[in-house]
Amino acid sequence: AVNMRMGGDIDPRLREIMSSIVRHLHAAVKEIEPTHEEWLAAIEFLTRTGQMCDEWRQEFILLSDVLGVSMLVDAINHRRPSGATENTILGPFYVPEAPRYARGTNVCLDGKGEPLVVGGFVRDTDGNPIEGALIDVWQTNDDGFYDVQQKGTQPDWNLRGVFTTDGEGGYRFRSVKPRNYPIPDDGPVGKLLGRLGRHPNRAAHIHFIVSAEGYDPVVTHIFPPDCQYLDQDAVFGVKDSLIADFRTRQEDGVGEDEGLNAPYWQVDWDFVLTKR
Ligand code: DHB
Ligand code: FE
Repeated sequence: AVNMRMGGDIDPRLREIMSSIVRHLHAAVKEIEPTHEEWLAAIEFLTRTGQMCDEWRQEFILLSDVLGVSMLVDAINHRRPSGATENTILGPFYVPEAPRYARGTNVCLDGKGEPLVVGGFVRDTDGNPIEGALIDVWQTNDDGFYDVQQKGTQPDWNLRGVFTTDGEGGYRFRSVKPRNYPIPDDGPVGKLLGRLGRHPNRAAHIHFIVSAEGYDPVVTHIFPPDCQYLDQDAVFGVKDSLIADFRTRQEDGVGEDEGLNAPYWQVDWDFVLTKR
């Protein structure tokens, strides 16, 4: 037969992907045996999901996250040796080009929440310190919202900053203890969760992207161990290796922690990067 082609070259990878998706989709439809109304409802769900998207809201990524697909794709692409810091979900609230801060700076600009100091070292898998690594950090405020969700209410760049490791690979910053919060649940994905009897809450966490020249960047979190949603995170982002020890300090901070009044929280946390 004549191979009729219109526009563009055949893409073998796309053919492989679509053949797999069609095979699995047909198998699901045969198993489900949907009514015509159910099939239409699925089309309407996808339409509404697309209509919800704008610069600050990517409802399809939210869908991928709550179905566990984002974590699966990440796991496939980041198989790291044991001992290296594990990745977890990026989420939709990362903003590049956050302010660069000196060691010890407090990223909390709204004064809410329980004070916290986070510090440690960035090393390679042989234990050598990595100088000049960038630690990009972001989290919600104590009301459970990111600055970009509350423009004009929260100070710009609240709870975001970039720190650089010193000659020993060390970093340190001040913030507040993170708390659990719901992912945006006012759209079709939130409605789906509700209909499934699933809650929208994420386990409390602080986000990090740790990067250094010649190393594979790590997109990760740390989780406080006392959060009630650790074993039921709405986007399946919790990994045991990322649960940190949040210690309570009962004496006022001294030395470089001068000005931190008791009680406050402290986390010692190291990052281990693999060579690219
Ligand atoms: C995060 C938020 C989300 O809405 C999501 O889908 C994944 C992660 C977050 O803030 O970490
Ligand atoms: Fe988050």
